[in-house]
Amino acid sequence: MPAPTSPLRRSVIVTRLRAAGCVFAEDEARLLIAAARTPADLEAMVDRRAAGLPLEHVLGWAEFCGLRVAVDPGVFVPRRRTEFLVRQATSLARAAAGPGGQALARRRTVVVDLCCGSGAVGAALVAALDRVELYAVDIDPAAARCARRNVAAGGGQVYEGDLYEPLPARLRGCVDLLIANAPYVPTEAVGLLPPEARIHEPRVALDGGADGLDVLRRVIAAAPPWLAPGGHLLVETSERQAPQTVETVARNGLIPQVASSDELNAAVVIGTRRAVQSGPGGQP
Ligand SMILES: C[S@@+](CC[C@H](N)C(=O)[O-])C[C@H]1O[C@@H](n2cnc3c(N)ncnc32)[C@H](O)[C@@H]1O
Repeated sequence: MPAPTSPLRRSVIVTRLRAAGCVFAEDEARLLIAAARTPADLEAMVDRRAAGLPLEHVLGWAEFCGLRVAVDPGVFVPRRRTEFLVRQATSLARAAAGPGGQALARRRTVVVDLCCGSGAVGAALVAALDRVELYAVDIDPAAARCARRNVAAGGGQVYEGDLYEPLPARLRGCVDLLIANAPYVPTEAVGLLPPEARIHEPRVALDGGADGLDVLRRVIAAAPPWLAPGGHLLVETSERQAPQTVETVARNGLIPQVASSDELNAAVVIGTRRAVQSGPGGQP
């Protein structure tokens, strides 16, 4: 039950948030008021937000693809642009299922969410698709714990470790959708991020090395043996990094494709494993 708040108190909160630089102070005040159980709770939440903590860390959740995803302190806050990655994965899974979903009705869609953070991407795919078998991995123990909270209800498994290393070997050659929103900010650009990210999100969630592509290159290079024939790798990237990411995907034997959204300022590179591997002379 939210604590009752007078219009005067509400406007004091809005003013305080606005002075702290919150652009959507009215909306944020509404969310904080709805979340606080007592006046003291509300006071503490407004203090934390005014001190620069991301709103999602203060509330303990983020809205993502229409879901309320738990986001613990120190865990990467899922971004709106990543909804585009989910949309691309959903359309590929639906296309693979064929009209009426007959092809996949026979078996589950195996989804791996690498670098899962809060588990938002995997949770959204479980919500959007029928019969998903989800495996998620993150190297950061706090993220893996948080992801377990978000995907447990849908039967998802979360592993802590480096990329593919903790995944069960039986998934090799069986993954229909291999998704990664890995860190892709070039090291020297991390210092230019807004303080909410720079200070309150872990560096391992942001820093992608000198050109931003260190983790993505490892994700792509090791992807082919995990993919089922016809399976897809989908990675979020920036518009600027997309050509290099496409080249890496092609170099590793996957069929590359780029999808982008101006509205969400998002780019996704897709690499598809051929349904039937060609042998010498083009023979299957
Ligand atoms: C940009 S965040 C994305 C989180 C989540 N996928 C999302 O979209 O909200 C990147 C995540 O990758 C994780 N990570 C970084 N390096 C990793 C690695 N080598 N193996 C597994 N996870 C890694 C970080 O801990 C962080 O949670």
